[in-house]
Amino acid sequence: MSAAPDIVRVDLGPRSYDICIGAGLLPRASSLITPHLSSHKVVIVTDETVAGLYRDEIDLGELDAAFVVLPVGERSKSFDTLQTVLDAMFAHHMGRNDAVIALGGGVIGDLTGFAASIYKRGCRFIQIPTTLLSQVDSSVGGKTAINVAHGKNLVGAFYQPKLVLSDMSVLSTLPERELRAGYAEIVKYGLLGDAHFFEWLEVNGKRVLDGDIEATAYAVRLSCETKARIVAEDELERGTRALLNLGHTFGHALEAQSGYGGELLHGEAVSAGMEMAFEFSARLGLCSEQDAARVTQHFSALGLTRLPDVAHLLDDPKALLAHMQQDKKNEGDALTLILARGIGDAFVQKGASLHDVSNYLQYLSLKLG
Ligand code: NAD
Ligand code: GLY
Repeated sequence: MSAAPDIVRVDLGPRSYDICIGAGLLPRASSLITPHLSSHKVVIVTDETVAGLYRDEIDLGELDAAFVVLPVGERSKSFDTLQTVLDAMFAHHMGRNDAVIALGGGVIGDLTGFAASIYKRGCRFIQIPTTLLSQVDSSVGGKTAINVAHGKNLVGAFYQPKLVLSDMSVLSTLPERELRAGYAEIVKYGLLGDAHFFEWLEVNGKRVLDGDIEATAYAVRLSCETKARIVAEDELERGTRALLNLGHTFGHALEAQSGYGGELLHGEAVSAGMEMAFEFSARLGLCSEQDAARVTQHFSALGLTRLPDVAHLLDDPKALLAHMQQDKKNEGDALTLILARGIGDAFVQKGASLHDVSNYLQYLSLKLG
């Protein structure tokens, strides 16, 4: 692929920014980042794995950089690690116009973005996502958060970065399981609004999982274009942005049921959750059985997480429904679900029938649980 990265613009008026997608971007990071800085001072937040792999590869040029290296995993999205990041920013004497850079997956991006949003009431923030999931989803759109005892992502802010640098080359070191989890979020964009993209994935998805840089850059670009369009329409998730949660209400219930111990990755839960959203939509007669079967077939062909893989999490339909009732999208006691009329045609269903959902979960527990 060409040396010039592809650019996807996220159009948000004064908060607009570019997503640069290309190969070999880390070794020329400083020239891409510097135009977005007003000084040379930066703090780079990363995790131990990513630091081990890429700390020496990222070109910092003239930048005066301090690194914060955090433990790997979801536990780093906490008040304690937020304090660690803020302390490092104070120690480096950062001002509001200096930038904090997230170099890592969604955990590092969500935490660092939240730190940026509250440091001196907001400082510059740059995302360098290093997992497929963070390149197609968490680095774009400005949702930042940490987890608290009451649940995941419950304390946070909408805070947009100044730039997203997505380097396809770093995906070569990503474990296969993480790659598949990220791929599930790519399929989501086809399923929610772009049937042609889903068809492309049916033919080319394996190339993405096999590490073909050209196919991956194309899939990342298409995903980011869809996300950028939806976020530009509804930055603060008052309406259409909820479509990006296709598979997430069912998926979050599975994650909660698994106890967040790392047994189920977020993308794996979303994958099984999307299968549920299509199967449930077909049961209600909203979408055809054929479309639901096509989703299942694609997930099987590419080895994505499917309902039989999470059968042990389906044996308590009441607990699953209780988790679904905690979802942030709900209004009062009524469930909001993202359902589908077909592939590429998802919609937001407010006030979904608890009775129908409960029946479906019972059916699943009898079939698989
Ligand atoms: P993650 O950040 O935990 O990264 C997954 C694993 O991959 C980690 O072990 C990490 O060390 C490792 N890793 C990262 N880059 C690597 C590389 N290039 N090579 C080898 N290993 C690498 O997880 P994730 O899947 O990227 O993100 C999940 C998080 O994102 C969750 O906390 C979720 O809530 C959040 N999320 C946020 C949004 C949003 O809109 N803000 C959207 C989706 C998910
Ligand atoms: N991941 C869902 C969103 O950004 O809205």
